[in-house]
Amino acid sequence: MKRNSNVAALALAALTVWDLNALGTGQPIAYSHKVHIGAGLQCLDCHSGADVSARATLPSVNKCMLCHAKIATNAPEIKKVAGYAAARREIPWERVYGFDSSALVKFRHSPHFRAKIACAKCHGDMAQATTAQLLVKHTMGTCLSCHRQNHASEDCATCHH
Ligand code: HEC
Ligand code: HEC
Ligand code: HEC
Ligand code: HEC
Ligand code: HEC
Repeated sequence: MKRNSNVAALALAALTVWDLNALGTGQPIAYSHKVHIGAGLQCLDCHSGADVSARATLPSVNKCMLCHAKIATNAPEIKKVAGYAAARREIPWERVYGFDSSALVKFRHSPHFRAKIACAKCHGDMAQATTAQLLVKHTMGTCLSCHRQNHASEDCATCHH
């Protein structure tokens, strides 16, 4: 018991204050959807594939720097963002949504965008979120029940490789 808590204390001491800030979110930067959507940004400004491609995509750190080369430059979290940009490294975000590769799922955003299905239907109310959480669980059952309601395809090959 004593020994374990010493190990834990050592591990904590090895983290910087910045790392501790980000620990609460499980992400490398304490990013907030609420702050940015509140500032007037649209989902597609950052997830620029969601209307036309299979993948919605995550924004490059260069996109962040378009604003943060000037905005809040002294904030500790922004110094971390600038550090990634200076090192020409993308921010290593933990992915939230996705399927086990063994299920061979081929999900595509664009047909859903064309069918006017709101992001919130599949991702919850991101305008109130900090970093993304798994607010909506997707299973074969949830895909199929919406496809059935909307007379969309139920063929195996629509959703599987
Ligand atoms: C269109 C401009 C814009 C873009 C692009 C942008 N931000 Fe921001 N960001 C803002 C504004 C405005 C604020 C609020 C600043 C304030 O409150 O002082 C902010 C605040 C933040 C904060 C909180 C800073 C603090 O005061 O602690 C973080 C962290 C942050 N942004 C990270 C990011 C990341 C990561 C990206 C890229 C994925 C990004 N931002 C892209 C405009 C932008
Ligand atoms: C019909 C449900 C559905 C809708 C509508 C939807 N998504 Fe997704 N989204 C998913 C699923 C499922 C995944 C995981 C896909 C995978 O990894 O194969 C995902 C993944 C993502 C990702 C992770 C990065 C990526 O490229 O996969 C982002 C970001 C995202 N969605 C944003 C959005 C935005 C923004 C909208 C609205 C314009 C949207 N999504 C609409 C179901 C949906
Ligand atoms: C300023 C840029 C920005 C805007 C605007 C933005 N996002 Fe994000 N989004 C991010 C970043 C950065 C991440 C990665 C960190 C995280 O998971 O929160 C992310 C992650 C996500 C994820 C999780 C992706 C995954 O599977 O890992 C979803 C879903 C998502 N965003 C949906 C939305 C929706 C819906 C909107 C509009 C209501 C939106 N985002 C607006 C920057 C943005
Ligand atoms: C909220 C309803 C809804 C959910 C949930 C949903 N879909 Fe869809 N999906 C649709 C609609 C509507 C279409 C468009 C059908 C059309 O264009 O005729 C579509 C189309 C598609 C297409 C393109 C089909 C084609 O013929 O080009 C694929 C692939 C797909 N969905 C996969 C999925 C997968 C995988 C999931 C679960 C992760 C899912 N969908 C969840 C409503 C939904
Ligand atoms: C509308 C989309 C959709 C259709 C149509 C669909 N699936 Fe799926 N299927 C999925 C998704 C999404 C998963 C992954 C679910 C998860 O991870 O919980 C899945 C998972 C599976 C799995 C489990 C794989 C694993 O390793 O966990 C099997 C097997 C499967 N599907 C077979 C089929 C067969 C056979 C058909 C045709 C009769 C079919 N699916 C039609 C979306 C679909």
